[in-house]
Amino acid sequence: MPAPLICPSILASDFSRLGEEVRALDAAGADWIHVDVMDGHFVPNLTIGPDVVKALRAHTDKPFDVHLMVAPVDPWLEAYRKAGADILSVHPESGPHLHRTLGQIRAIGARAGIVFNPATPIGLLEEVTDLVDLVLIMSVNPGFGGQTFIPASLDKIARARALLDRAGSTAILQVDGGVTADNAAACVAAGATALVAGTAVFRGGPEAYAANIAALKG
Ligand code: DX5
Ligand code: ZN
Repeated sequence: MPAPLICPSILASDFSRLGEEVRALDAAGADWIHVDVMDGHFVPNLTIGPDVVKALRAHTDKPFDVHLMVAPVDPWLEAYRKAGADILSVHPESGPHLHRTLGQIRAIGARAGIVFNPATPIGLLEEVTDLVDLVLIMSVNPGFGGQTFIPASLDKIARARALLDRAGSTAILQVDGGVTADNAAACVAAGATALVAGTAVFRGGPEAYAANIAALKG
């Protein structure tokens, strides 16, 4: 099995030194930089706006994987794309017309991701397989870092994998929330090809980032 892409979530970084943190992640072998955008409405936390993404863009050439926990999401797509987002991932609950939203993301030149909360039925994926480049399975309820991986997520990853394979999709299958070196291999065995991790990457400070990323790669 090929090693998964590791996408550190900067939610767990030192916000007073974000540029340095992104450079350290780049040097430590991060494949993508995962940016958690929260609006204090769709989820009970408030984080990063497009100006911060724009300011960080100069610090790395690695893809910015922007996870939008914002509702309504459509009015924000262009701003994050212009700020330097390469992948824009949206929750089906964040707008009334998911099909249009995913089309719009590709139309502005980004890769389109769909995000499944723990209680969001995976069957919805069947309707949009041709519109997505990434499928993100949330293994915690979104809003905060440092939560515990929900074990039932493994079965959901496997069901998403089966659905993508059946549709002939090459979309990346990503997992987010409570991912650690202890459950990373199980996620990959279930079919994941990318792992988001906050706590597990930032634990131990900058000297530990490379080893933490390597441990997640397996
Ligand atoms: C949760 C976020 C995750 C989270 C990951 O809403 O989408 O990206 O920050 O952090 P850990 O790895 O600490 O669960
Ligand atoms: Zn996330």
